[in-house]
Amino acid sequence: MTDKHFKLVNPETDKSVDIPLHEGSVGPAVLDIASLYKEHGVFTYDPGFGATASCKSSITYIDGEQGILLYRGYPVEQLAEKSSFIEVSYLLLHGELPTKEQLQRFNQQIVYHTMINESLLRFFHGFHYDAHPMAMLSSVVSSLSAFYHGSTNIHEPEDRDLFATRIIAKIPTIAAAAYKHSIGQPFIYPRNDLGYCENLLRMFFAVPAEEYEVDPVAAEALDLLFILHADHEQNASTSTVRLAGSAGTNPYAAIAAGIATLWGPAHGGANEAVLKMLDEIGSVENIDKYIAKAKDRNDPFRLMGFGHRVYKNYDPRAKIIREMCHKVLKKLGKEDDPQLELAMRLEEIALKDEYFVEKKLYPNVDFYSGIIYKALGIPVSMFTVMFAIARTVGWVAHWQEMISDPATRIGRPRQLYTGATRRDYVDLDKR
Ligand code: SDX
Repeated sequence: MTDKHFKLVNPETDKSVDIPLHEGSVGPAVLDIASLYKEHGVFTYDPGFGATASCKSSITYIDGEQGILLYRGYPVEQLAEKSSFIEVSYLLLHGELPTKEQLQRFNQQIVYHTMINESLLRFFHGFHYDAHPMAMLSSVVSSLSAFYHGSTNIHEPEDRDLFATRIIAKIPTIAAAAYKHSIGQPFIYPRNDLGYCENLLRMFFAVPAEEYEVDPVAAEALDLLFILHADHEQNASTSTVRLAGSAGTNPYAAIAAGIATLWGPAHGGANEAVLKMLDEIGSVENIDKYIAKAKDRNDPFRLMGFGHRVYKNYDPRAKIIREMCHKVLKKLGKEDDPQLELAMRLEEIALKDEYFVEKKLYPNVDFYSGIIYKALGIPVSMFTVMFAIARTVGWVAHWQEMISDPATRIGRPRQLYTGATRRDYVDLDKR
């Protein structure tokens, strides 16, 4: 903490107000306004929290102007090239890259918790066949709080670690069960001899009638996508998990709240919305019409997969995924995917348009990811589920950072009230 201050003048009292300035290890400093209301009777106002730091965190750092993303200080580009999702999960949870022994032990813990209670599988039979997989995922994850309510003491570090292991290990099994239910196929159990992404692909695509060989290209592509989606600072779903967790709620219920938030098309639901948008655009000839719609303030249509609250430069994740598209589609023999062609033309035209340039709207993580998921045989309705599987470790890391901070208090924002001032009740016959 520095002893630097901002000086404000209170127009009511003409008194100058010292606002302490706190500096982090990198990035913008923050004005500590915690005592502003107590000492000066005013709140700050920042709907959407565009300029508000809700907490201190040492997990992920984004520089939106430069298009930089660091997980515990490591550039996401280096982790994408050299690491694995399980190793990145360890890094996000523990703050350091694991030794070989630590990684092996962590991986074994995850492997031994991939099965779910058999009665949980019966929950899926209550859903209609066309239930959205995100609705099934959030409901079944929330019901984990019923199974592990008694045995989850959030004030015990061992319980917190067991929660982290269980939810990271079980979310792929629950996601795969949601998928199998939606296509009327039997659930496939996890296998302890498979890696995290191999297991997921097998639980998605294997059938009891025959052996299933996981395509290593698909597993590698999925592992890279999961690394890129693992965490992203105080985004809407992570902030939801922190807020729910600050009330001391069951952590599985807090994760379910994060899943519900991620589902929104303005957030993680955008990857599904991008593929629907590309289908709607249909061909390169229609691109100009849709760019015009996206620019028309009276038209609710937005270019899905474009724009970002923080990145005012190219989302570094989108850059890596775009390059990945070519390699993965080529290896899968699908390099002439018309939707990839259309997406690239759309990006090229949009990035030359002064509306997008002036508003600094670039492709974000969701713009290309769906094209790869589709090439891996994953249906559009499951795209945001894939995002949720990867982001679970980020949610857990932030929940742990919040719950283990002795300074944590229940989150409780205030408001600028613009409603009716005090008035008396009027009897019905006098209205
Ligand atoms: C994710 O926060 C995170 O970190 C999220 C995420 C993560 O990893 O957790 O990165 C994942 O959610 C990525 C974003 C996925 N969503 C989309 O792709 C949906 C399309 N994008 C937009 O809805 C929008 O860009 C947001 C929601 C992403 C950001 O919204 P902001 O920051 O509130 O920006 P804004 O709505 O204030 O837009 C600023 C201007 C507006 O025009 P004006 O009112 O100034 O005239 O840009 C325009 C917007 O209309 N604009 C767009 C646009 N995005 C913003 N215009 C057309 N198409 C778009 N996609």
